[in-house]
Amino acid sequence: MRYSDETIAEVFARNDIVDVVGMYVHLQKKGANYWGLCPFHGEKTPSFSVNGNKQMFYCFGCHKGGNVITFLMEYENISFQEAVKELADRSGIDLPEVRETEEDKRNRNFIQKLFEVNKLAAEYFFKMGKTERGQMAINYFKKRGLTDETIRHWGLGYSMPYSDDLYKFLKSKDYSDEFLKETGLVSINEKGAMDKFWNRAMFPIMDERDRVIAFGGRVMGDGEPKYLNSPETKVFDKGNNLYGLNYARHSGKNAFLLCEGYMDVISLHQAGFTNAVASLGTALTDRNALKLSKYVKEIYLTYDSDGAGTKAALRAIPMLEARGITVKVINMKPHKDPDEFIKALGAEEYQKRIDNAESSFFFEIRILASGFNMEDPKEKNDFYESVARRMLDFSNELERSTYEEAFAKHYNVDTRKFHELVIETARREGPRRPSYRTDTGEERIPKKKFENAAEKKLDDKILQPQRLLLTCLSDDPTLYARLAPVVSPSDFSEGIYRKVAELAYNFCRESGSVNAARIVSCFEDREEQEKVGVIFQTDLPGEVNDAERSKAIEDTVRKIKLNSVEDQINAAIEAGDGQKVNELLKLQVSLKNRSNKLL
Ligand code: UTP
Ligand code: MN
Repeated sequence: MRYSDETIAEVFARNDIVDVVGMYVHLQKKGANYWGLCPFHGEKTPSFSVNGNKQMFYCFGCHKGGNVITFLMEYENISFQEAVKELADRSGIDLPEVRETEEDKRNRNFIQKLFEVNKLAAEYFFKMGKTERGQMAINYFKKRGLTDETIRHWGLGYSMPYSDDLYKFLKSKDYSDEFLKETGLVSINEKGAMDKFWNRAMFPIMDERDRVIAFGGRVMGDGEPKYLNSPETKVFDKGNNLYGLNYARHSGKNAFLLCEGYMDVISLHQAGFTNAVASLGTALTDRNALKLSKYVKEIYLTYDSDGAGTKAALRAIPMLEARGITVKVINMKPHKDPDEFIKALGAEEYQKRIDNAESSFFFEIRILASGFNMEDPKEKNDFYESVARRMLDFSNELERSTYEEAFAKHYNVDTRKFHELVIETARREGPRRPSYRTDTGEERIPKKKFENAAEKKLDDKILQPQRLLLTCLSDDPTLYARLAPVVSPSDFSEGIYRKVAELAYNFCRESGSVNAARIVSCFEDREEQEKVGVIFQTDLPGEVNDAERSKAIEDTVRKIKLNSVEDQINAAIEAGDGQKVNELLKLQVSLKNRSNKLL
């Protein structure tokens, strides 16, 4: 389903970005912009700006930027269509439903109904907790130290010990068998209907937007399986959700605590650590890591202190780091998990463990060390070599030498000798980057903003001038008249930049101004939107007067033309078109002559 340009234009017209962002972020006007604490990364001083004229936001800390639609997509973690719909609804715009196909519509209604039935079931289980039988569950929660307030906050409840109790309730609400089969709450076959959960203490699972999507049910005492969970459904995608995220995202903390279980999350929140989350079921997925990275740049792992927890931590660390998150590991010994720790030693002690959390690096090294017998000289040497190999994961020289020194100090080895070992290992193995495994087990090398210095140089040389020119054009559209005869969209790099240039030129031609916010929304993919957002945020360094500005624009145009001509020359050489090469070489010479004014 796609919305028409007119609809999108109306959504922009009726949703001023300053108002919309103001609902989520406390903004203060300073100069031409509004400023606030960035909702996308933790910070103490505002680097998040909203520009009412451009109808764009930009964070100078995490470099996220875009228009009002991008903002909502990021903040609510929703799709382009959903964001348009939400803004339209809020501002009373009737969206033409005609563009929705019958199948889209059925799908949307079905999903809506799944949310609805899960909510009903959650309310039902909660109510059952209030019954005489349900006291079993409530007593169980209380025995585990949960307060009434906590039980209410998490909607904890009880499923009755009959095989079709929930089924009967849902039938009384007129749901068909055919639909109920898809909810994961009941199974239906020739023999009849059977609830998934009986006689269990119930935990509703919410998505980050507070919608109930599934349940976990725990036996009250010992028994197998300890937890029973809803199967995956159209609204329950295990690998994409985290328990507690609906609360943690509003905790106002710039780091999350990542733990293993429902009870860990609940106990931590009750103790005041409202930034705790857990992945659902077994292991953290790459999609979990990606989602977490949208909220925080730092995570404290607080997995069980047993072998399985350690293994899970070693697996989670590179996945989180690949998404740009700094990881620290909390030591909960002698207790098993955060729930037990808090019960035994209290919140203050736990806070101390947070303050003393070990960096992921030392954690990894310590675990590595435990696999070697340090009494044995050969094994000790093998250990040093393994660590030296691990050092090659740091592509940044300075960072690596910091870690080398820290390791040498910590493990009492000679810094210089250890450094030599690292260099020798590097020579033997070549530099490498840490890899991580995706959900499907595929091994990947994380992407950095720039793979290497050469890529950054290329960006500086080719793309930076293009960004600068597009920003200048959007700031001062009268530039278009002088620019158009000299630089054409085809002089911009293929892909996003060229498309943005075409759109900007069209806007200038048709309306005499560049609507950067609208241009961003011509791209539906969130990553593309962010790239486009950044294009329009490329200011000239520092304060410049008009003459300096003109000169900078002239220089920028020259750079773009020269880059473009260089590309064309290469293409002509490849095509064996000698005449074209000659023409272009002449053009190149004249472009290089700075006394030939371009604009
Ligand atoms: P744990 O076995 O560590 O349990 O499982 P826990 O969280 O400490 O539970 P309590 O304190 O005994 O109540 C961690 C998580 O693994 C999943 C659940 O999400 C659980 O919270 N799990 C565990 C299951 O899904 N099924 C199980 O049978 C066990
Ligand atoms: Mn536990």
